[in-house]
Amino acid sequence: MEPEPTYVILMGPPASGKGTQAERLQELLDLPHVASGDLFRYNLKNETELGRRAKVYMDKGELVPDDVTIAMVLDRLSQADANKGALLDGFPRTVVQAEALDDALAEKGNGIDLVLNIRVSEEELIARVTGRRLCRQCGASYHVKFNPPKEPGVCDKCGGELYQRDDDTEEVARKRLDVYEAQTKPLVEYYEEEGLLIHIDGEKSIDEVTTALREAIENNL
Ligand code: AP5
Ligand code: MG
Ligand code: ZN
Repeated sequence: MEPEPTYVILMGPPASGKGTQAERLQELLDLPHVASGDLFRYNLKNETELGRRAKVYMDKGELVPDDVTIAMVLDRLSQADANKGALLDGFPRTVVQAEALDDALAEKGNGIDLVLNIRVSEEELIARVTGRRLCRQCGASYHVKFNPPKEPGVCDKCGGELYQRDDDTEEVARKRLDVYEAQTKPLVEYYEEEGLLIHIDGEKSIDEVTTALREAIENNL
């Protein structure tokens, strides 16, 4: 018999460090990193119909409609490497998405194992968003001050070119924060009621946050 799949969700406001931490936790968990924002950006880069539809919302800092998002993520979770489960980042982001995920997992007798909620203050989030740089090739995330690459503009891991996301301006980031408060915050309560949620102080250094997440995983999974 195959072992039961494991599903861990990394939650938190825009630029709280979900992507940065997921990269570091992937090995410990031995699970694929499934990030809805990355999936949209991959579609954008490849100029798919889905990418074109999503861009309209992403550029404004709004959420892509639930039906489109749910179909995309469930399709990703049905791929072979996600047989053993997934480390989810940026999904679910609405109660409708959370319910759809619960239903899809329940159909196979599975469910969410753990939800880690990274908390960071608003001013720190704005500083993180506006200084972020990403690798065009491998998607690795950097920060001009807090996590600079060895050579400016060049990825340490693969030598790819670093760029700034279109939605990483202060204006769009503030909108993304408002959207988070209104539509995603209710999920904290949703998972708290299910007894799955652990809060993590995300305002520490990248290494300290990794340690806290690692401990939470080791003690609760
Ligand atoms: P998405 O890509 O998910 O963006 P987000 O939630 O706004 O989160 P970010 O990727 O901006 O931040 P992060 O938490 O991954 O932080 P990171 O590790 O990079 O979504 C983008 C858009 O897609 C949405 O606006 C929406 O339109 C659409 N979308 C996506 N999912 C959707 C869904 N489920 N439903 C509907 N629409 C959806 O770190 C940020 C920066 O801080 C980096 O520069 C990093 O180096 C730095 N940093 C990280 N940790 C620390 C630390 N501890 N100290 C100092 N600096 C740090
Ligand atoms: Mg991210
Ligand atoms: Zn790279």
